[in-house]
Amino acid sequence: MCTCITDFLTYETTKSVVVKSWTIGIINRVVQLLIITYFVGWVFLNEKAYQVRDTAIESSVMTKVKGFGIYNNRVMDVADYVTPTQGASVFCIITKIITTDNQVQGHCPESEKRFTCTQDSNCSKYVNKPGDYGILTGRCVSFNTTMKMCEIKGWCPAEIDTIKTTPMMEVENFTIFIKNSIRFPMFNYTKGNFLPTISSDYIKKCNFDMVNNTYCPIFKVGDVVRYAQQNFTKLADKGGIIGIKIGWLCDLDKSDDCNPSYSFTRLDAMSQKNAVSPGYNFRFAKYYKMENGTDYRTLVKAYAIRFDVLVNGNAGKFNMIPTLINMVAAFTSVGVGTVLCDIILLNFLKGAEQYKAKKFEEVSDSPMDTHSNGLYQSQLSLRHKIKSNDLGSFSIEHYC
Ligand SMILES: *[C@@H]1O[C@H](CO)[C@@H](O)[C@H](O)[C@H]1NC(C)=O
Repeated sequence: MCTCITDFLTYETTKSVVVKSWTIGIINRVVQLLIITYFVGWVFLNEKAYQVRDTAIESSVMTKVKGFGIYNNRVMDVADYVTPTQGASVFCIITKIITTDNQVQGHCPESEKRFTCTQDSNCSKYVNKPGDYGILTGRCVSFNTTMKMCEIKGWCPAEIDTIKTTPMMEVENFTIFIKNSIRFPMFNYTKGNFLPTISSDYIKKCNFDMVNNTYCPIFKVGDVVRYAQQNFTKLADKGGIIGIKIGWLCDLDKSDDCNPSYSFTRLDAMSQKNAVSPGYNFRFAKYYKMENGTDYRTLVKAYAIRFDVLVNGNAGKFNMIPTLINMVAAFTSVGVGTVLCDIILLNFLKGAEQYKAKKFEEVSDSPMDTHSNGLYQSQLSLRHKIKSNDLGSFSIEHYC
């Protein structure tokens, strides 16, 4: 019990031991060299730890789609197939539409299979609940000569969206023009995706590709879809969302190292695998007025490829504070090498026992132990001469 407490109540303090050994000397220097190489090569040169980074990129995107398609024997232009029309960073190109003409407010049968009925009692459970195309009245009415459906109150006739139509394939050849300006507020640095090195003649003619025209701001829809690793026919048929990502990684210490890099992905990857709601579609209507004042409308269900232009990036510039902090970290880390060298020195090297004896010393406040310890003997004998009247029983604490 007593020894336990004595063992516990000790204090260790560091003391340097110089080891003149080639083996450990070489290991020590190699480890230090590795640590310095890591900091200089990776932390400073590669990760640019001497820079401050601005990740709060400000950006504006303008888009413009061009091309003509033919759908249902009608030529479709931009105003017909692009929505919304403002040329924002998110826009849809409609590839397929199902129209329901001349809808007016009234009562008519549902068009969805699940509302098939034979008598009113089949429909009464739905009373005042929303159907697919209107509010159900609870009556069973004839849909056509052979079939009966629950009746709805709403825009009539109800849309039938099971019609098979082929998408407008010309979309593949449409072009998307993207104008992007960015700013890094911390450095008040602005730049656009029309690089000063490219001429206006080039911009009028070029088409983006990953090899030769990496800075051309005009993208063919077919190329974008291909770069996102999608099948155009399938995408045009079901609809989907494609991301056009513009990345800006800028090193403002170098004068011309701030260029956009484009990449493409399918953003609604989940709807590819999910059979419940595959693709992307939405509805809108165009409203008209009859001469007697009643409203009627054309309902459009549109399948579309939506493009989201996403901008991200960061810029770095030399700054004193991160440089100093990282330098201090680097110098401190050089000391980590001693831990490894100690393990080798005290366990694996020849004469490890001797090194151990030199490195660790036990000092206690019991007089007997002090005398038995060779190292402090000399110091004590020195003190003996100074303090001649002592009894020779000292503990190291007396000199603290
Ligand atoms: C797209 O353009 C190419 C080359 O001009 C043409 O061969 C192709 O038929 C066009 N695709 C469609 C779907 O019109």
